[in-house]
Amino acid sequence: MSSTALPHAGKGDKLVLAVPKGRILKELRPLMQKVGIEPEPAFDDPASRQLRFATSNPSLDLIRVRSFDVATFVAFGGAHLGIAGSDVLEEFDFEEIYVPIDLNIGHCHLSVAELKEFAEQDDPQRWSHIRVATKYPNITRRHFAAHGIQAECIKLNGAMELAPTLGLCRRIVDLVSTGATLKANGLVEIERIMAVSSRLAVNRPALKTMPDAVGGWIERFEAALTHHKIAS
Ligand code: PRP
Repeated sequence: MSSTALPHAGKGDKLVLAVPKGRILKELRPLMQKVGIEPEPAFDDPASRQLRFATSNPSLDLIRVRSFDVATFVAFGGAHLGIAGSDVLEEFDFEEIYVPIDLNIGHCHLSVAELKEFAEQDDPQRWSHIRVATKYPNITRRHFAAHGIQAECIKLNGAMELAPTLGLCRRIVDLVSTGATLKANGLVEIERIMAVSSRLAVNRPALKTMPDAVGGWIERFEAALTHHKIAS
């Protein structure tokens, strides 16, 4: 991917920060404010179809994309920086991405779950081959392979919790935050694969070619987090 990984996101010297859609934005906005990033009003307008946004800082634009796509935009140099979950970063494991900071937001777990009534008689010690519905086939295969279990993954992009009741498989691997989605679908968590939090992701070639500009944002995020820790 080296020929496509060079940063080419900017109009002129503008940097691009990719942020994920969805729930995480609620936690991310106060941190962005501390870092000094105030997006233009369209960012908060649900009627707007805009995907790229100017900010209070004339040298920084935001793009808002799906959480899985943040890593891809950063790895291919479409964005110089991004906010991505450690789950997504580990799933893709792009060598073009440098991950300097744990932002200490978006905490949840990546877990194995199955139907409650099935879990009561299931014995993970006896698994040798299992079928799993997940958005995370790489992490899932690696995790089970390390325990001598072959995992056959059915790739879904959402609503994994439906798969066991509809007979696609017996187990799923998905994010668990409050546990409400598992509960509402008759599932229980039987194993935690990894703890997840949001990270600052940086395109390595961008940091090399624009050390002051890109490095400056890393420092601002670091300072905002230190300040946050002292204040709380
Ligand atoms: C995530 C995840 C679970 C749910 C877990 O989905 O895939 O379905 O959140 O959260 P909970 O434990 O608090 O119920 P999300 O709502 O982000 O949508 P997605 O299916 O599009 O990923």
